[in-house]
Amino acid sequence: MTTSRIGIRAYAKINLSLRVTGMRPDGYHQLKTVFQSLALHDSLTFEVVDGPFSISCAAAGVPLGEENLVWRAAQLLWSASGRAGRPAGVRARLVKRIPPKAGLGGGSSDGAAALVALSALWRTGTGPEVLRELAGRLGADVPFFLCGGTALGLDRGDEVFPLEDLARRHVVLVLPPFGVSTPEAFLGCDDDACESDRGTAEDHGAAGGGLARLGGGIDLQVVNELQGPVGKRHPEIDRVCRRLAAVGAEAAAMAGSGSTVFGLFARPELAIAAAAGLEASGHRTLVTRTAARRQARAAVRLVWTRSSRIN
Ligand code: C5P
Repeated sequence: MTTSRIGIRAYAKINLSLRVTGMRPDGYHQLKTVFQSLALHDSLTFEVVDGPFSISCAAAGVPLGEENLVWRAAQLLWSASGRAGRPAGVRARLVKRIPPKAGLGGGSSDGAAALVALSALWRTGTGPEVLRELAGRLGADVPFFLCGGTALGLDRGDEVFPLEDLARRHVVLVLPPFGVSTPEAFLGCDDDACESDRGTAEDHGAAGGGLARLGGGIDLQVVNELQGPVGKRHPEIDRVCRRLAAVGAEAAAMAGSGSTVFGLFARPELAIAAAAGLEASGHRTLVTRTAARRQARAAVRLVWTRSSRIN
């Protein structure tokens, strides 16, 4: 019998810029967003075993069934490669480090990593086009994780165009004690008041220093148009942004649909001091850094495999 095991990392993301440009007939919002991978990651292991596909995870509150994007990735790929019924023959183990419901894309990144790892393990021969299509069916920001690094996302955020990597920045993540659901964050943006909220969100970007220097020397205004409506319900988000700016962040904004707030720092000692100050006043923080595409792209060349023949 041959056993086989694949390990893969699933990296977190922030949105350096997130603008809502319109509404689609299916209820999704059209976006113009710049994604950025972070070094913070979950670790996933997929092992060939007998029995139905299963997920195990020591972290509390992580769904182990169909609500988990790893499970849905397995089902999608299983069916797309012509197999009948439910996925089988693999056990997935997740080590979660990316906080959930935080706007950091943890579930989506796990889903993308599962597509890549399982297509290798099951030898489905799925090409990159089909993989991207399956990723888009899993969720609007899942295709980004197949690309990683710094990338432009259009339409639902699922039309992804790689950009030159951002020069490395040290990142302080401030994790409020509440989460924000993605549909709720987008719904808040549909109010009539949204236009004025967007202005406010830009101001937050400016208050944080506001600029991220992309490859090629292009300065990007750091702004999140979901921050106005989410910040109205959770004023803590704006307060943390201002605090990060005051302690030397080049830019600060809410990550994705929230509730995490990030600050970008040029020097690691500044990031560590900022995080220590925030922790001292009762905030939960994580310090990480931006990750380049060659590190963060969910790709088979990043996985390790072990095969052994048992007689
Ligand atoms: O695609 P995903 O399942 O990640 O999206 C979750 C929800 O976020 C959607 O059901 C929708 O309410 C909202 N969303 C949106 N526009 C986007 C992305 C997500 O309205 N571009």
